[in-house]
Amino acid sequence: MIKVAIIVGSTRPGRKADSVAHWVHDIAKKRGDAEYDIVDIQDFNLPLLDEPAPPSLGKYTQPHTLAWAAKVAAYDAYVFVTPEYNHSTSGALKNALDFVYGEWNNKAAGFVGYGSAGGVRAVEQLRLIAAELQMATVRAQVQLFLATDFEKYTVFKPDPSKEKTVSTLLDQVVSWGTALQTVRAKK
Ligand SMILES: Cc1cc2nc3c(=O)[nH]c(=O)nc-3n(C[C@H](O)[C@H](O)[C@H](O)COP(=O)(O)O)c2cc1C
Repeated sequence: MIKVAIIVGSTRPGRKADSVAHWVHDIAKKRGDAEYDIVDIQDFNLPLLDEPAPPSLGKYTQPHTLAWAAKVAAYDAYVFVTPEYNHSTSGALKNALDFVYGEWNNKAAGFVGYGSAGGVRAVEQLRLIAAELQMATVRAQVQLFLATDFEKYTVFKPDPSKEKTVSTLLDQVVSWGTALQTVRAKK
């Protein structure tokens, strides 16, 4: 079975990202088609990128980079749970993506966005970033709206229909995540 990381994309105190990520994880765990873990970028205490060499060279020097690289390398596919900040993803998630390179390559990625407008603009930007990191991004995308999926804009109570979209997203992530193992095996 492939391994899929559900990445918590906000480090803000009081963030909604962790309840959204746990909801995705609860749905995923019931499937039995892959191993699903929550990966919280907050646990890695990444500073703003402080590596002297471009990450694409893989010459990591800092202990936090090595720990993050090892974590990212352990997975075949990712589900990014992202807030929308100023029509983009969070600075914390962008920084975590920038920190390493080869570990993301030839892996599958799906997106769960949330915000006033369902996180759609954050996800559009993440798709461009993922392309540069050589990730294959699946079409299905979960959009969660502060007005309708969070009670009083605060407590996460997703509309029940959203669960089906998570399942479709995971179907696609597992399918492409499995297929891309073949590509990595040839390297
Ligand atoms: C700095 C900042 C910028 C934001 N910009 C947008 C935005 O452009 N579009 C949007 O739909 N929501 C925006 N929001 C609302 C967030 O998506 C919402 O507060 C979300 O809960 C933040 O995720 P988090 O709680 O996990 O950090 C913004 C919030 C913050 C803190």
